[in-house]
Amino acid sequence: MGFESVGSWILRLYPLGSLTMINPLYNDNQMKLGVMAFNCSHGSTVTTVDGAWPMTWENNAELARMVDSAGMEVVLPVGRWKGYGGETNFNNRTFECFTWAAAIGAITSHCAVFATIHVPLIHPVAAAKMGATVDHVSGGRFALNLVAGWFKDEFEMFGAEWRGHDRRYNYATEWVELVKRLWTEEEAFDHEGEFFQGTALWSQPKPLQSPRPPIMNAGSSPTGQAFSAAHADMNFVMLRQKDDESDIAQINHLKTMATELKRSSQCWIHGYVVCRETEKEAQDYLRYYVIERGDDVAVNNMLEIFGGQSDTLEPSVMEAFKFHFKAGHGGYPLVGTPEKIVAQMECLSAMGVDGILLSFVDYLGETQQWIDKVMPLMCQAGLRQAFPGAR
Ligand SMILES: Cc1cc2nc3c(=O)[nH]c(=O)nc-3n(C[C@H](O)[C@H](O)[C@H](O)COP(=O)(O)O)c2cc1C
Repeated sequence: MGFESVGSWILRLYPLGSLTMINPLYNDNQMKLGVMAFNCSHGSTVTTVDGAWPMTWENNAELARMVDSAGMEVVLPVGRWKGYGGETNFNNRTFECFTWAAAIGAITSHCAVFATIHVPLIHPVAAAKMGATVDHVSGGRFALNLVAGWFKDEFEMFGAEWRGHDRRYNYATEWVELVKRLWTEEEAFDHEGEFFQGTALWSQPKPLQSPRPPIMNAGSSPTGQAFSAAHADMNFVMLRQKDDESDIAQINHLKTMATELKRSSQCWIHGYVVCRETEKEAQDYLRYYVIERGDDVAVNNMLEIFGGQSDTLEPSVMEAFKFHFKAGHGGYPLVGTPEKIVAQMECLSAMGVDGILLSFVDYLGETQQWIDKVMPLMCQAGLRQAFPGAR
């Protein structure tokens, strides 16, 4: 079904006012899925291995269509303005997120299309309109991934003020409250805040989704997580991966914080995938691209920035995390046979994870393999329903 027919079908079935219910982020699948970071060169893998994601518009469009027609819920771009150096200069070539989301929204028909935004770099009035535009282009499938920023070099390119860690979240709070008002209030309003002042603020058209598009946030520090619980609908959690008990505690803590505020919050994680017919093949390839061909200079730069500008990871786990950062930007390993990976996802689901954003070394080949080999097993395990329109 093409975009236009899906758009009009949605509007017939769901009069404006209840569209949030049909964003696939709110479907019944116990383990939702998406693919992330393919708008960036090297995606999420900090490696010099042959075939590491070269990133062109053609391969972005092909992958988005593949994810969409398989019935996955999400495509999510990373917001990045500068690479991390090293031999790969990891993530130095990136497509800007909102223009990317508008184009992806126009060529897909089912999945939620995220744009990631660095709140200090875009004014709320502009952001509200950009989000509403993508929501209309996509027939009500837009979602916002809000980041407060943690990479100072990027901000220096803009001459933007670099606030202290917790001040960045104070700023983000005023920013997101303004965007929500601009998305929902019909009357113009004045605003006299700590960070923003304006007269007769107003934005039309409103997003198609009502009351507003979903918001995700990956704040991982205590302040970031408190922000997430209060203002976002999904927390993108970086599990510390010490053991299952501490990961469960981390997830419970996030969900409880939201519940105490009378809100609900889904928990999403990032999973890096190496799926092969045998466990040995998967482990061998993982070791090869991470240990033999990993870009240590780029990952050290990344961790220095991360360690210096966020209180997410204690110094004691940083060294262990170096492996996960090279393998998949600090994500959770989904490595092994299709059966083993599905068993891992059953555990993650039982731990409270609602969705996983996947990344791969070879996005096109390995996403197709995921669709063919892993998704049918997820349906058998009851983690997902078969997608009626799957091609
Ligand atoms: C899975 C994941 C995706 C993220 N995506 C981005 C991104 O696209 N751009 C960005 O600048 N920061 C991104 N971040 C960084 C977070 O927004 C956040 O700043 C970081 O996790 C540190 O947490 P803190 O800000 O609470 O200290 C991401 C973090 C995670 C865990």
